[in-house]
Formats: sequence, structure tokens, C-alpha cells
Amino acid sequence: MAILEEATSLAAKAAASAEQTGRPYVTLTYAQSLDGAIAARPGHPLALSCRESQTMTHALRAAHDAILVGIGTVLADDPSLTVRLVEGPNPQPLILDSRLRFPPFAKLLRHPSHSPWIITGTTAAATRQRTLEEAGATVFRLPAARNGGIDLPALLTMLREKGIHSLMVEGGAQVITSFLSSRAVDQLIVTIAPVLVGGVRVLDVQHLPRSNGLPRLTQVVYQQIGVDLVVRGRPDWQD
Ligand SMILES: NC(=O)c1ccc[n+]([C@@H]2O[C@H](COP(=O)([O-])OP(=O)(O)OC[C@H]3O[C@@H](n4cnc5c(N)ncnc54)[C@H](OP(=O)(O)O)[C@@H]3O)[C@@H](O)[C@H]2O)c1
Repeated sequence: MAILEEATSLAAKAAASAEQTGRPYVTLTYAQSLDGAIAARPGHPLALSCRESQTMTHALRAAHDAILVGIGTVLADDPSLTVRLVEGPNPQPLILDSRLRFPPFAKLLRHPSHSPWIITGTTAAATRQRTLEEAGATVFRLPAARNGGIDLPALLTMLREKGIHSLMVEGGAQVITSFLSSRAVDQLIVTIAPVLVGGVRVLDVQHLPRSNGLPRLTQVVYQQIGVDLVVRGRPDWQD
């Protein structure tokens, strides 16, 4: 499988890339409907991809050092972010959560191999941090970006310093939008399911800083996996 072969060669490429750029190699990946939706309703999960492409996603997870989602996804889906459908190591789970809304009963607190890293802002309540740390999370504080949320360049520098060479970003819409508009993506892997949903758009247009801030893909590979179409490419931001 072309896209999976790419995934297995990631570790060496990621280490070299991290050395060169000073940040982890970033894979942005998500599943969408034919009409570009990642969920049917805000705050609600929707299984879009077929079993075979979910297996590919788990193999991709196993090839990365860390996996990141936004707090919106934790609140909507209560994900485990583990590798279950293939053999392989679990990546370190990371959650962007400026206000420490992370629920103390989330599945991620029962992760089989890692304490989830919650990345919060400098003003989040210390009492909330203590509660989450007592429940098993590790909380890091980073500065906020100018337009709100965690500053992504500061996050990526911190991850590099912690030995994270490769990061898989799995969503949701706001996180996908900020990684793309920050130009902090090395490869994009999108699973397109043959269904129309009419729900939550993959790009959160309200959070796009400028109309021309989105890339075209180069070196594109298309692959049918099960009933889904998987598209992989390298983003190219032409100014
Ligand atoms: N189909 C798929 O592949 C897929 C994958 C994942 C999720 N989803 C769906 O996506 C939906 C959730 O998406 P969402 O947009 O509501 O939430 P999200 O992107 O998961 O999380 C967004 C939240 O993360 C926090 N955040 C902190 N720093 C940020 C930064 N630099 N950039 C962006 N966000 C930052 C913000 O909350 P604070 O201000 O409180 O920090 C923000 O509101 C759910 O319905 C879920 O099912 C689909």
C-alpha cells in the first residue's frame, strides 16, 4: 500500500526533518464526507471511514511519536487515540486546551501507556490543573497565539525539545484550520468516505486569518482503501 509504505519510512525522515527545521515532522490527517464534512452536528462524533481505512489510520498513529487533537474533539468524541487495529506502539497523546475544560473522567486518563499531555495557556486555573494532574494528566503551560488558542510555533519547539520527532494531528475543525493557516504541516492525508453529510465543514472559515492562506497539494498519491479514497500530498503554500 503506497500510503502505508510512506508511513513506515516516516521515522528516519522525521528525525532528519526535525533536525533541519527545529520542529517535529507534522502529518495532518482526518476523514471527511464527499461534501467536505467531518461531523454531522457540532460537538457530535460521526464514524465516516471504513474499517480498512481506520486500520491505515492506526498504522499511521503507530508510526508517529505523538498524536494531537483539540479539546473540542475530546468533549465531542471522548477518543482513546491508541493503536488498536494493528500491532505497534501508542503515540504520546496531546490535547490543546487553553481553559482546562478537559473532563476528569475522559478515556484518555485511562490510556494504557501514556499520561495525556494537556497543553494549556498561562491563565488557566491552578486548581483545575491540580485536579487533572491528580487524575493522571500532565499539564504544560504555553503562551497564547495572537488570535487565541495555544501558540503553535511555541508548542512545536517544546515538543522537539522533549524528543518528539513526528506529530500526527487528527482534528477537529479548528485545530485543522490553525495548523494549515500556520503552515505547520508537512504532509496531509485525507480519507474521503462515499457519503454526503451536510454537517460541520472541515475548515473553520471564521478562524482563517486570510483568504489565500491555504495550500495546494504536491506529490499527490490517490489510493482506494476499502470503499474510501485516501489522498496524500505535501502542502505547498504559494504566496
Ligand atoms: N472526521 C474526523 O477525522 C474528525 C477528527 C477529529 C474530530 N472530528 C470532529 O470535529 C469536531 C470537533 O471539532 P472542533 O473544531 O469543535 O474542535 P477541535 O478542533 O477539536 O478543538 C478546538 C478547541 O481547541 C482549543 N485550542 C487551543 N489552542 C488551539 C489552537 N492553536 N488552534 C485550534 N484550537 C485550539 C480551543 O479551545 P480553548 O479556547 O478552550 O482552548 C478550540 O476551541 C467534533 O464533532 C469531532 O467529532 C472529526
